[in-house]
Amino acid sequence: MKKIAVLPGDGIGPEVMAEAVKVLDAAQKKYGFELAYTWADVGGAGIDNQGKALPEPTVTTCEESDAILFGSVGGPKWEHLPPDEQPERGALLPLRKHFKLHCNLRPAKVFKTLVDACPLRPDIAKDGFDILCVRELTGGIYFGQPKGRHGEGGEETAFDTLVYSRFEIERIARNAFDAAMKRGKKVTSVDKANVLTSMVLWREVVTEVAKEYPEVTLDHIYVDNATMQLVKDPHQFDVLLCGNMFGDIISDECAMLTGSMGLLASASLNAEGFGLYEPAGGSAPDIAGQGVANPIAQILSATMMLRYSLNLGEAADAIEAAIAGVLEAGTHTADIAREASTVVGTAAMGDAIVAEL
Ligand code: NAI
Ligand code: MG
Repeated sequence: MKKIAVLPGDGIGPEVMAEAVKVLDAAQKKYGFELAYTWADVGGAGIDNQGKALPEPTVTTCEESDAILFGSVGGPKWEHLPPDEQPERGALLPLRKHFKLHCNLRPAKVFKTLVDACPLRPDIAKDGFDILCVRELTGGIYFGQPKGRHGEGGEETAFDTLVYSRFEIERIARNAFDAAMKRGKKVTSVDKANVLTSMVLWREVVTEVAKEYPEVTLDHIYVDNATMQLVKDPHQFDVLLCGNMFGDIISDECAMLTGSMGLLASASLNAEGFGLYEPAGGSAPDIAGQGVANPIAQILSATMMLRYSLNLGEAADAIEAAIAGVLEAGTHTADIAREASTVVGTAAMGDAIVAEL
């Protein structure tokens, strides 16, 4: 029995979460595992019901669970609050910090039947692609010390420090290789070792870690070339391993290659493999309450949870295959549909995936 903290949040969060749980329930029956859900308030729901974006009981629930399944938070109702008390800054960032989630996983997958959502030329997109961006989240130039400003006038300077320790690089590299073992067994490490000393260490350490994974192929690529290759031939990549800043940029590029917010899942893991799983998008106030949101990003976040925190890769694969099957059959929510006649709502999409499973 695994314990899951379910934090639906605001806007479309509860709508898409209901579908993810529906699919997880069906997967439990089929694959004979058991999940115990504890639902808890977060974001605007936390503010409204318990006076805080991240109420203490919610943190306790998360601590007592094997994984966190997170919806999305925020909306116009709470925008008047001071920034640190708002749903996103008041809940998501403290959760990441509290659980030391150093590893961000963002898959970008183009389903073969949705290639025209992809902004790339059809001849490039036609075979689909399936990339996992592994981004180091708590180190690198965003956090490196010292940073600051000196002097004035024409002499004024400003600086940041790009620093990575061997420990940090080894840790995130292992995350990437572990992930590759569960996928296409290929890691491409993104760096700038031709000009940055920190990236020379990055390349050395990644090369050393690779020796622990003889089944995985390792390539190195300079970040500028990586951004070009992603639009030229995304099919060549399986796992992309990046430091914090390069990963910030590359993961957004990967995300946009898929074309729809409603398909993008993410995971943030700590050193113990504990993770928070959430769609890349927000609470979509423009469509909330209408039953039209695409639940696939939330369902794919749940499959990442099965794969990376609960070691239930077989069930995760089956759910992903069911999603591909439903999309192939022409069942689409409004965000990915091209003909109005094939459009279904949030719950009908969840039902279709369950039926396919
Ligand atoms: P958003 O991702 O909520 O919406 C952007 C656009 O994508 C909208 O047109 C929306 O309808 C569409 N969209 C997003 N998810 C969709 C889905 N599953 N199906 C169909 N369409 C979908 O980003 P936006 O508008 O910038 O932010 C809205 C609120 O969400 C804000 O309060 C923001 O702070 C919050 N937010 C929360 C995040 C989180 O909880 N991790 C992340 C990003 C934003
Ligand atoms: Mg970004």
